[in-house]
Amino acid sequence: MSSNRQLRLHARPKGLLAPGDLQLAEAPLPSLADGQALARVKYLSMDPTMRVWMARDSYLPAVAIGEVMRGFGFAEVLESRHKDFKKGDKVVGLTGLQDYCVIDAADKRGSFQKIPPVPFLSDTAFLGVLGVNGITAYFGMMEIAKPQKGETLVVSAAAGATGSIAGQIGKIHGCRVVGIAGGPEKCKWITEDLGFDAAIDYKSPDWKEQLAAATPKGIDINFENVGGEIMHAVVSRMNLFGRVALCGFISGYVKEEPELVSLGIVIVKRLRVQGFLVIDYMNRYMEAATQLGKWKMFGKLKDRETIVEGLEKAPDAINMLFTGGNIGKLIVKV
Ligand SMILES: NC(=O)c1ccc[n+]([C@@H]2O[C@H](COP(=O)([O-])OP(=O)(O)OC[C@H]3O[C@@H](n4cnc5c(N)ncnc54)[C@H](OP(=O)(O)O)[C@@H]3O)[C@@H](O)[C@H]2O)c1
Repeated sequence: MSSNRQLRLHARPKGLLAPGDLQLAEAPLPSLADGQALARVKYLSMDPTMRVWMARDSYLPAVAIGEVMRGFGFAEVLESRHKDFKKGDKVVGLTGLQDYCVIDAADKRGSFQKIPPVPFLSDTAFLGVLGVNGITAYFGMMEIAKPQKGETLVVSAAAGATGSIAGQIGKIHGCRVVGIAGGPEKCKWITEDLGFDAAIDYKSPDWKEQLAAATPKGIDINFENVGGEIMHAVVSRMNLFGRVALCGFISGYVKEEPELVSLGIVIVKRLRVQGFLVIDYMNRYMEAATQLGKWKMFGKLKDRETIVEGLEKAPDAINMLFTGGNIGKLIVKV
């Protein structure tokens, strides 16, 4: 343990990440000052927003060229001169894509949370079902979509980390849930294992007809993760006064000019459309985590992970989010 491998941003990607956009570098391990702790990064959360952070300013400034790539991770404290952390503590936060990170009391964002030991949960659950994705699905559904018994909910990127949980929350609330996902394996998983009522494989040529057949009473709620043509097809089938929770537009993140959905339909159908960001709900983390944890413990919520081994594989893993290479939560084991 003498050096720290880091993935640094070398060039802003065009389309998918190209080899060398993120470059592996070695830095000496920092010596700790008062108020700091050193943690070993064990798992990295792969999130579509990382591609946005590489390209441009958004709700956070773009990662600067030469900087360690920003990313969420799970880490274990090795050594501490920080009053709130001790050796052996497990934490989640913005670790960055590297082997070791420093937790610094001077960092006013307070970006690390200690993880309590919970017997039935794996460490990686705190990056997925009880991490950013679970919390996003929970507040997007409970605060914006507000599912009611008997309503039809359509979720896109439904076999992904966020969509799979949003759909199951719809089932828990008595909705008819239709998921849109790429390929038969994903469609089988969300219907047979997660209990979605129907799955639409958007890669099959007749997917729009399949969507119509699966939503005979129209659509009351759209939990939108993809945008573009998929969102357009869903919104076109929405019932009057339906709700759209805009979670993400992943189909646009690797394009220079993302497709836009015409907003005329929002007026015609009198839809309530609201975008949201999970960061606005982080002060209510315990509320969501407690409920998600209970649902998971009682078997009402299932999750799945795709694990890629090795820090050096993180650039390929980021691309998997845009080529559909993951089922459930995508994680890099460092
Ligand atoms: N608002 C927030 O605070 C917040 C927080 C977290 C995530 N999000 C958003 O939630 C969405 C899902 O994120 P996640 O982390 O849960 O990732 P994920 O769903 O686990 O992985 C991304 C999935 O998106 C699908 N996809 C990628 N490109 C697509 C395209 N062009 N057309 C259709 N499907 C495509 C792929 O599945 P297929 O094989 O099915 O294509 C892929 O597996 C993203 O839009 C993300 O930005 C928002």
